[in-house]
Amino acid sequence: MKKAIFITFIALLIISAVYYFKPFAFASGKLKLSKKMIAKEKIEAGLNYGKSEFYNTKLGTDGFSCAKCHVDSIGTYIPAVKKVVRSLKGVAATFPRFNPKTHQVITLGERLNMCIVHVLKGKPLSGQKLNDLTLYVTSLSNGYKIKGYNAEPSPVFKNADRHPKTIQQALTLGKHYYDTPLGASGKSCDSCHPGGGAGILGGKPTKPVIGHAGFYPTYKKWGKIITMQDQFNHCIYTGEEGFKKKIGSKTWKYLDLYVYSLSKGYKIKVGK
Ligand code: HEC
Ligand code: HEC
Repeated sequence: MKKAIFITFIALLIISAVYYFKPFAFASGKLKLSKKMIAKEKIEAGLNYGKSEFYNTKLGTDGFSCAKCHVDSIGTYIPAVKKVVRSLKGVAATFPRFNPKTHQVITLGERLNMCIVHVLKGKPLSGQKLNDLTLYVTSLSNGYKIKGYNAEPSPVFKNADRHPKTIQQALTLGKHYYDTPLGASGKSCDSCHPGGGAGILGGKPTKPVIGHAGFYPTYKKWGKIITMQDQFNHCIYTGEEGFKKKIGSKTWKYLDLYVYSLSKGYKIKVGK
């Protein structure tokens, strides 16, 4: 008899525990869902702001907007830049680029600023405003495959690669930065993302780098709309107790070029 009461008691305890914890399980599912919804909303807000800047005739000082040329006047010769304007569809898939004449890496954000400064006669954008405009311009290339370069980085880093003159040297420098410990605790990108794949950090898998460039700019809760270079800073600074580098610094630009080249052939999918 005592045994039966005991068993009933245990059974009741289990049933009530299930009912007690169920809402928690439900709530955590909801939390995940709402996180996704927040990210979606933030990306949409970034896209909308970027689009409004794209159509804004006051972004510069000469009354033009990006859209006046890149939507309304496609195929028109523009004397100011001595070139014919093209549509921006697919253009984001060709950045970052290595300019063989100046031997410099140029990111999409920097290219947009060139049009703002030289064509719109305005002040270059930075931070969130630039990231939002970059996000919008990148979204015009959704579905296009990241073009990348055909050259492979050389497995051996030589001193000559420090001042790259060829695309192969530029990629070799980028890979060199990928493999070099950049933070205080001696970790490199390669320690946490070995060979561009997912690694292990504190027993948990990290994310792969290969194939992920097509999602940038994206939303992360620590930084609003972020570019790939913001991601580098986040990885090195928070994961590594390292040193934040300037967006547009030589290290981050060559690393950017290398990381995008790791995603060669993957489709651009921003804002999804
Ligand atoms: C007065 C016309 C005009 C305006 C306004 C203008 N652009 Fe351009 N843009 C051009 C021309 C011309 C080129 C050069 C195309 C080429 O190199 O073939 C260009 C090139 C570009 C490129 C590089 C394309 C490539 O394939 O190399 C991007 C990206 C770009 N513009 C974005 C913008 C953005 C964003 C704005 C607004 C901030 C803007 N442009 C405003 C005329 C304009
Ligand atoms: C201490 C370990 C660590 C180091 C060092 C590190 N990362 Fe990360 N990285 C992570 C973790 C963990 C994540 C996933 C969480 C996040 O997004 O922050 C991540 C995410 C990323 C992502 C985003 C993947 C995605 O789609 O969400 C990219 C790209 C990336 N890292 C590249 C790099 C590069 C390039 C470097 C070198 C500058 C680097 N990481 C250094 C741990 C690290």
